[in-house]
Amino acid sequence: KPPKQITNEPVKPFSNKDILDWDLLRASISKFNSASLDVPLVINGKRIYHNEGSRQFFQQTNPAKHSQVLANVTQASKQDVRDAIQAAKSAKEKWYKMPFYDRAAVFLKAADLISTKYRYDMLAATMLGQGKNVYQAEIDCITELADFFRFNVKYATELYNQQPCESSPGVWNKAEYRPLEGFVYAVTPFNFTAISGNLIGAPALMGNTVVWKPSQAASLSNFLLLTVLEEAGLPHGVVNFVPGNPVDITNEVLADEEFSALHFTGSTAVFKQLYGKIQSGVVNNLYRDYPRIVGETGGKNFHLVHPSASLPHAVLSTLRGAFEYQGQKCSAASRLYLPKSQSTEFLENLVGTLESVKTVNTSASKINGGDLHGFVGPVIHQQSFEKLANAIEEAKKDPELEILCGGKYDKSNGWFVEPTIIKTTNPLHKFMSTEFFGPVLTVYEYPDSEFSQICETIDKTTAYGLTGAVFARDREAIILADEKLKYSAGNFYINDKCTGAVVGQQWFGGARMSGTDDKAGGSNILSRFVSIRNVKENF
Ligand code: SER
Repeated sequence: KPPKQITNEPVKPFSNKDILDWDLLRASISKFNSASLDVPLVINGKRIYHNEGSRQFFQQTNPAKHSQVLANVTQASKQDVRDAIQAAKSAKEKWYKMPFYDRAAVFLKAADLISTKYRYDMLAATMLGQGKNVYQAEIDCITELADFFRFNVKYATELYNQQPCESSPGVWNKAEYRPLEGFVYAVTPFNFTAISGNLIGAPALMGNTVVWKPSQAASLSNFLLLTVLEEAGLPHGVVNFVPGNPVDITNEVLADEEFSALHFTGSTAVFKQLYGKIQSGVVNNLYRDYPRIVGETGGKNFHLVHPSASLPHAVLSTLRGAFEYQGQKCSAASRLYLPKSQSTEFLENLVGTLESVKTVNTSASKINGGDLHGFVGPVIHQQSFEKLANAIEEAKKDPELEILCGGKYDKSNGWFVEPTIIKTTNPLHKFMSTEFFGPVLTVYEYPDSEFSQICETIDKTTAYGLTGAVFARDREAIILADEKLKYSAGNFYINDKCTGAVVGQQWFGGARMSGTDDKAGGSNILSRFVSIRNVKENF
């Protein structure tokens, strides 16, 4: 059967009380605020809590109010990870032998549950746990998540319906899209609940089973996501949830001969380590097959403004691209190139607009049931806060850097860092190449006549190639930037901010050191989780 019509889940208009019920949202927020929940491991559908046996647990705290424990999260032991691997292996045959339509139905139903019955719980868990305002949560754990599930079904249907092999008289040939022979390891990030959904969902839809290590900082929303999938009919053992110590879990998983794929979003440094370990496992004959490695990692994403650009549009886009969700999107803009002739006006507008929306809220009420819209929320945790605070202190002392706005931080209640804009006189300064993963934007002013040269500088400044944007009305400038920046960004935007890829519309992912460019939200990713068998039959 063909799937139903697939379209993007619309982002709800927040002003309409009939569409977004604020009382229901507040009730969900109060529920998570009123007590710390216990988040278990889920292995073969069985919940395992930390008070069973001698398991450790860790605490997931509210980044806007770090004294508040949202969840006590069970930490998987090595034996738990081995059990999860075994559960994934055992569940495999029944799952992939299900008709595709039945597997697809699980994800279509989960998408509907997310946008209806579980909408407010999903929003609240993502807002409180991951420090998002209501809009940032909505475009993540409702619309993007539902879109991933639905569009993956659309693309998988197209793939399965494709029969690319020619036949000849008396001979029938077919390509059979088998799942990978072993199991898939999904390592998911804190910053998008939706990404977790895709990292487990894409391989599972293709008949694979999964061992899932969520980010510690997203345990609550991620566990909720799994319960929604279960309610939608996901059989036990298809996805096994093992929060805990990343190194211990990864070591167990990568030691198993049936490890068949890594589906990863996270830092470049961690991805490189896993990549190396997997390669060495292959060389040492550890695995039965060559594991697929699919990863999306860091970026040092750029906004480039041409003298012909519409300034108000470029200013607003930069404000949003750099500072929404505190710059913690892997796609966030963190370096800005301005033509000298426009720079003063641009920066005055940018700083002015930022002043009007910022407000570091140390009482933490912003994300804590008070002002659900607050533009500035916390960064995710202490480690991130310290990294950003150190960078800001370094900037204050560096003669090549000047702080134009922000530069303050406060950890008394939550992990708050002011949106900070820094100007540099050196286009190759390390602030133009290092990813801080937070609300810090570094600006360089280039001579108007050197647009072509600045494109070359942008291209060679970093090892990354994730996102970038050019703002221009002059068509020749657009064509030039498009050519010169061909490999500088896997997602290239013309006259738009470099964040906010929409599933099915802007297939997302970078190349170079930003990842394997397999494109979340597109059709290509699904083919990474199948192994094609060619069958020839003579009649
Ligand atoms: N897909 C997100 C964006 O485009 C980042 O992960 O902003």
